[in-house]
Amino acid sequence: MSAPVTQAAVQRFVAQCREALAAGRCERVVLVSYQGGQSDIDALGQGLQRVTLRPVMLKGVPHLSAVWRFPTKDITKNAPVAAQLDAIGRWLDAGAFRNAHLHTPGQEVQLAISRKGKASVRVGAVQPDAAKSRPSDGEPGAAVEAEASAAAHNREKHRLLSLSRPFLRELGVTDAQGRLIPAMSRKWKQINKFIEVLSAALARSRLADRDRLHVVDFGSGKGYLTFAVHDWLTHSLGRHPQVTGVELRADLVALCQGVIDALGLQGMAYEQGDVRQYTPETLDVMIALHACDVATDYAIHLGIRAGAEIILCSPCCHKEIRPQLLSPHPLRPILRHGIHQAQEAEMLTDGLRALLLDAAGYDTQVFEFISLEHTNKNKMILAVRREQRGASDEIVRQIQDIKAFYGLQNQCLEALLRADGLLPA
Ligand SMILES: C[S@@+](CC[C@H](N)C(=O)[O-])C[C@H]1O[C@@H](n2cnc3c(N)ncnc32)[C@H](O)[C@@H]1O
Repeated sequence: MSAPVTQAAVQRFVAQCREALAAGRCERVVLVSYQGGQSDIDALGQGLQRVTLRPVMLKGVPHLSAVWRFPTKDITKNAPVAAQLDAIGRWLDAGAFRNAHLHTPGQEVQLAISRKGKASVRVGAVQPDAAKSRPSDGEPGAAVEAEASAAAHNREKHRLLSLSRPFLRELGVTDAQGRLIPAMSRKWKQINKFIEVLSAALARSRLADRDRLHVVDFGSGKGYLTFAVHDWLTHSLGRHPQVTGVELRADLVALCQGVIDALGLQGMAYEQGDVRQYTPETLDVMIALHACDVATDYAIHLGIRAGAEIILCSPCCHKEIRPQLLSPHPLRPILRHGIHQAQEAEMLTDGLRALLLDAAGYDTQVFEFISLEHTNKNKMILAVRREQRGASDEIVRQIQDIKAFYGLQNQCLEALLRADGLLPA
């Protein structure tokens, strides 16, 4: 739990929220970088990413409608303005959130709370054009829909990346005017979501305040995510990372290197290589978005071996397990359908990967990171390193039981970890 924070700054921030609400000028209040330790918040779920509160009228009474965003769900809760502001003040006083933002037309008030509990308030102007270019939000809020219409025009998506960033133009995501090219809208949503997940993971990892960190993107392809991570870390967070894309295809490496050269980017590189042989000197964050089949296992293995603090991957084409899969009684009549076999193979592969990460000393989550309408490769495995390393016998036993039940002989990640002595023989 953080130290007590400077109450005057918190009171000033809450007072500005109260005034903006009373004057009908509050667009939204956003709380980010949750530090844990509040029982009423912890009861809602794990891995809170941010809380976005918007003014709404319910039965003629001003309320704040809060959307609590977690990696796998959004929870909407409404409370009368005074009670909600009291709660915000209490959380901020306790240092539960490191940053809070009040958005009004043309202005943003930011409260920042340092690790030592020192709080400061900054007021900045918002460019009207930047506000206009943000696409619509789409956050759930069904219960208040009817009465929220007055605030509807404020429902703008707060994205961590901005469409105006030059790398997006170079990669063909935006046009020369910084407008999203319609054919790239799915990719745009994916990389934004990926950055959101990375942002939350970073905040609760040992890298939370690290200025210099090495991020490696395996199977980086055309580099959308690699550039996005570099841009977000340098431009938005002001850090000094080294971001490396590793890609098998020389033509894609040349293409991405061309973008680095064109933009004169520092702290970024592309290497032509095979994830099965690649060994970086340091590795703090391992990412792999849709690295094919067992390339994901090799990437995870490399992350574990290098002691990466965060391992973040969205697997694709699960080919290894399916031919080995037996149809054990009483699942046989269900698994005789090809589609069920494919689904079972995918679930088993990613379930075993998650257990192996747990056994290797990571807190691991598997979740849908973007809705199916944007991509069917929508599963995310997120692992953040715990203090304790080393295999847990209980988890290793669970893995053996699952393999025995389905008659699985080989799983790539398990074999790699065993060969390294990172799992009991
Ligand atoms: C489906 S694409 C994903 C590209 C990128 N991550 C994205 O999401 O936009 C997978 C990429 O992984 C690369 N790849 C496949 N196996 C690899 C390996 N063993 N080592 C390095 N790259 C690999 C492929 O060449 C391809 O560019």
